[in-house]
Amino acid sequence: MPHYRRVGDVPRKRHTVHPAPPAARLHEELMGEAGFSGASSLLYHRHSPSAVIRIEPAEVPDGTARSGALHDNQPLRPHHLRTGDLAIAPGTDPVTGRRPLLVADQVTIGHVVADTSSGLYRDAAGDELVYVQRGAGRLDSVFGSLAVGPGDYVVIPAGTTHRWVVDGELELLVLCARGHVTIPSRYLSRDGQLLEGSPYSERDTRGPDAEPLLADGDDVPVLVRTRMGWSVHVHATHPFDVVGWDGYLYPWAFNIADFEPIVGRIHQPPPVHQTFAGDGFVVCSFVPRLYDTDPQAVKIPYHHANVDTDEVLFYSAGDFMSRAGSGIGVGSISLHPAGFVHGPQPGSYERSVDADRTGETAVMIDVFAPLRLSEAALSVSDPTYATSWHRRAQA
Ligand SMILES: [Fe+2]
Repeated sequence: MPHYRRVGDVPRKRHTVHPAPPAARLHEELMGEAGFSGASSLLYHRHSPSAVIRIEPAEVPDGTARSGALHDNQPLRPHHLRTGDLAIAPGTDPVTGRRPLLVADQVTIGHVVADTSSGLYRDAAGDELVYVQRGAGRLDSVFGSLAVGPGDYVVIPAGTTHRWVVDGELELLVLCARGHVTIPSRYLSRDGQLLEGSPYSERDTRGPDAEPLLADGDDVPVLVRTRMGWSVHVHATHPFDVVGWDGYLYPWAFNIADFEPIVGRIHQPPPVHQTFAGDGFVVCSFVPRLYDTDPQAVKIPYHHANVDTDEVLFYSAGDFMSRAGSGIGVGSISLHPAGFVHGPQPGSYERSVDADRTGETAVMIDVFAPLRLSEAALSVSDPTYATSWHRRAQA
């Protein structure tokens, strides 16, 4: 969460009577991480957020519930997943329609193309980080409404009751964490301010609107993703009844185009691209930037062995010079697992000699636990990718 935010009416002192009319007592909720030792917010509800009238099991389609069958990456191989080949069905929403592709204990990476708004939903298993590849919409939540568009990362804290409102069609890369998504600590001052020199600042982040989002309704179902499966809680009244809140915990967005790339005289290592930290993973942003400036610099990435992580790259926009000839393009996901040394495709060096910049935009997710592949992932995995570095494979 970027910094303190206050929306609507809150009492001057915490845990005191809310002065807002009418005289009916408001219900204060403290939503806090890490056993209330981490970030938190105080929300003031018109109705009890605990007033549930019914609890039901949930049937979530398309293997989302427990990801269906998962396959170990055995024998070990790199993968190229063509998300554009995943079937798109009318009536798909951004929550129940997401397809898990790569799954580890602490993170699930999925993809969805949605043309329908979702119902109310909260992820009780961890934070969600959603990257908007295409389209526009809104994230409505108990904290208010947050407009989103192409290139936005949207961080949704665990336990946030929300819904996705789709305007046309939304293509999303969805990371469901088993834990929290945070700003890397090395970017922050002792007091939590984003430091000079970090690749983004508070001015680049956006929170929910300045006005509370209020809705009426009775018997309102909320789909809950839990650490053990899925449930539906039917609330007596609409959960969007917060007249005011303040704190450090709320959904927020950051656009990848606002990430300031760090370049050098020679090639900079992947950590300069880090954007988020998580429990068991990191997220990096590759954005259009100048190449290295030394006349002798090798501009393309060196071959690299990420010995502790499985590396996932989602190719969002532009040309990917170091991947040319591999079949990778916009919408592709590559998986380069630990144990496989990977690097630029044949011919990349020659193509880079006269180039002074790259126009690529990509999202990288390094996961420390081994990733398993879903049936959906295997169904769009390019069988020729694993040997695409071999010149004989180009013949
Ligand atoms: Fe890599």
